[in-house]
Amino acid sequence: GLPSRVRIHEVGPRDGLQNEKSVVPVEVKAEFIHRLVEAGLDTVEATSFVHPKWVPQLADAEELYGGLADLPASAGVRLPVLVPNERGLERALALGAREIAVFGSATESFARANLNRTVDEALEMFAPVVARASESGARVRGYLSMCFGDPWEGPVPAGQVVDVCRRLLDLGCDELSLGDTIGVATAGQVEELLTALNAAGVPDEVLAVHFHDTYGQALANTLTALRHGVTTVDASAGGLGGCPYARSATGNLATEDLVWMLRGLGVETGVDLDRLVATSTWMADRLGRPSPSRTVRALSPT
Ligand code: HMG
Ligand code: MG
Repeated sequence: GLPSRVRIHEVGPRDGLQNEKSVVPVEVKAEFIHRLVEAGLDTVEATSFVHPKWVPQLADAEELYGGLADLPASAGVRLPVLVPNERGLERALALGAREIAVFGSATESFARANLNRTVDEALEMFAPVVARASESGARVRGYLSMCFGDPWEGPVPAGQVVDVCRRLLDLGCDELSLGDTIGVATAGQVEELLTALNAAGVPDEVLAVHFHDTYGQALANTLTALRHGVTTVDASAGGLGGCPYARSATGNLATEDLVWMLRGLGVETGVDLDRLVATSTWMADRLGRPSPSRTVRALSPT
C-alpha cells in the first residue's frame, strides 16, 4: 500500500545551492525560501552552519537565517539547518533554530572527504551536538550519506549502513535520512536496506529517504520506499543540487517530479505544483540555466 500523505523535506536552499559555483545573493536565497513556503512546503532546509571555507556558498548562514524570523513556527513552518559540530550548533541556536541536522557517513572515504574525520570520530563529534540540541528542545535529524554506493569504495553493504544508523539513533537523533549521495541506488537495494533496518529494530516511522537523480532512478527508488512504509521524502525544488565533497553527485530528486507522481497516486503533499514550478523557473533564471526537472520543463510556459 501507499501512505495517504507524504511529508516532503525540501532541501533546495541547502543541498540545492551548496554546490553552486557563483555565490547566490542572500536576498535571492531568502526569496527562494519564502516562495517555497508559499507553495506549501512546510519543511524547508534553509542553510548550513559549517565552516565557510568548506562551503563558501553558505557563508551567509547568519544573515540568511536571521532574516527568516517572519516565517512562523506557529504556522507549522520548519526551517532545519545543518550543523556538523558544537561550533555550528552554537551558531544555529543563537539564531533560534528549532531543528538541526548532523550529517554522518556510512563510508570512511566520505567521512574523511566531507568532515575531515573517520566514521567513529564524526560520531564522537556529533554526540554532544545531539545531546545539547535535544536538551534545548530542538528536533534532530541524522543524515547518513553513501548508503548505497560510494565513489571511492563502490557498493556499500547494507550491514555497514545499519550499524551507523543504529549508532545515530543511540546518540538521540529523532529521524534518520538515508542518503544516496551519488544517485547510484536501484530499487532492489532500497528494499533490501529498509528490510535490514526494520530487522535491526529501526522502524520506517523514523526514516526519510534522500535520493539524487544521477542515473534517473530517484523516483523509482522513492516509490519503492513509500510502498515499504516510509512517509518522509527529501527533494529539491527544480532538481538543484549536489555535494561538493562527493565526486559525481548531481541534482537531488526534483520536488516537482515527486509532487507530480504523488498527485497522480492520490497521495497528499500540501504542495501547490504551479506555484512551485513558477518558483523553480524563477530560480533557474537567477542561476542562468534551465531546471533539469522534466516536470518543471513540461509545465513551464515557453
Ligand atoms: P576541520 O577543518 O577538521 O575543523 O573541519 P576543525 O574542527 O579542526 O576546526 C578548524 C577551524 O574551523 C577552527 O577555526 C574552527 O573554529 C572552525 P580556527 O580556530 O582555525 O580559526 N570551525 C567552524 N567555523 C564555523 N562554523 C563551524 C565550524 N567548525 C569549525 N561549524 C568541519 C571540520 C566539520 C568543520 C568541516 O569539515 C566542515 O565544515 N564540513 C562541512 C562539509 C559540508 O557541509 N558538506 C556538505 C553537506 S553534507 C551533504 O551534502 C550530504 C547530504 O545532502 C546527504 C546526502 O546526499 O548524502 C546531507
Ligand atoms: Mg544530498
